[in-house]
Amino acid sequence: MMKKPFEFIFNPHVIFGCGSIQKLPSLIKSRSQNVLLVLGGRSFGESSVCEKLQTSLKNEGIEHSVYNVPAEPSPGTINKAVDDYRERGYDLVAAIGGGSALDAGKAISAMLCEDGPVEDYLEGSDRKILSGRKKPFIAVPTTSGTGSEATKNAVISQVGKNGFKLSLRHDNYVPDLALIDPELTLSCPEHITVYCGLDALSQLVESYISTKSNSLSDTLAENGLQVFGRSFTSLVSGNLQDIEARTGMAYAAFLSGLTLANAGLGAVHGVAGPMGGMFPIPHGAGCALLLKGIMAETEKYLLDRDKDNPALKKMKKIAFLLSGREGLNLSEALADLYMSLKLPGLDVFGIRREDLPDIAARANNKNHPVQLSGEDFVNVLRNAG
Ligand SMILES: [Fe+2]
Repeated sequence: MMKKPFEFIFNPHVIFGCGSIQKLPSLIKSRSQNVLLVLGGRSFGESSVCEKLQTSLKNEGIEHSVYNVPAEPSPGTINKAVDDYRERGYDLVAAIGGGSALDAGKAISAMLCEDGPVEDYLEGSDRKILSGRKKPFIAVPTTSGTGSEATKNAVISQVGKNGFKLSLRHDNYVPDLALIDPELTLSCPEHITVYCGLDALSQLVESYISTKSNSLSDTLAENGLQVFGRSFTSLVSGNLQDIEARTGMAYAAFLSGLTLANAGLGAVHGVAGPMGGMFPIPHGAGCALLLKGIMAETEKYLLDRDKDNPALKKMKKIAFLLSGREGLNLSEALADLYMSLKLPGLDVFGIRREDLPDIAARANNKNHPVQLSGEDFVNVLRNAG
């Protein structure tokens, strides 16, 4: 079991628990006399928690500015923040929000220390090499989904016909502090709870069956999957205020960030990425609409053609961890999990049937245990939703 050598990047410091947001002003004060707050488009900016935070910072004499990120960050979002704030000399960046705000904050903290636009440093660009310097960065998630609080990359998107979703990635970009307060997720509406939750589940599943998985990432993924199973079921049964379930989801999402950062992702994200670059579909919704179908195709492939692949045994284990029932295949367990969900079709996001081959052509399998074909991807997309 432990034969495979591996490396593992941890968060240097994690504070997890209900009410931990109260500690943020003193945590900021212990690090800097000024802070750039990067906030998401959702309700946090108008909440009493945010008002209290800003009052505390003011009372402590800590200079701060607020930069709002209403959607998944584009290069323009990052470059504008750097233009606006570079001269102000902020020594600390703290992002509070969903995955978009966290990714934006992470990228801004890095680009404040680099020259030129962020486009020059994205994966696949050979224009400039990242120095790895950045402003210290605190990540405070208000949704349970991307696990960005645990990862070393920020996803930057440009949506359109020739759009993209690419990472700004460096080992040094793992947040210096991840402050995870599950109470902040209580106001998250049902559809966002579902989308983000299924993003986290995709990340746990894909990293667990990834060809790059290792004994440590497997242990964390198994724990995350088990906690996810009981927490998600409670939330989608109408108990959005179940704080135990919200805590479980925040924990599972955090673990999914750790496992994806260390074991990589698979075909769900391999399709969701290009699809999200081409069409205005939120990342979580893309994962939610793809996970069940990709896993059904994968299971079918393995049963028909590669029964000895260790991923098949792992998929059985995922089914058990999610459902608590012996003997289910993963596609059966996911069908049960999806039964009560009201997911929209791809058409709601402007994706038509004739667009599917284009999406499939740009998709890839990443570290998936089998190589699904373009035709397989089209099949999955045709039945998504
Ligand atoms: Fe994701």
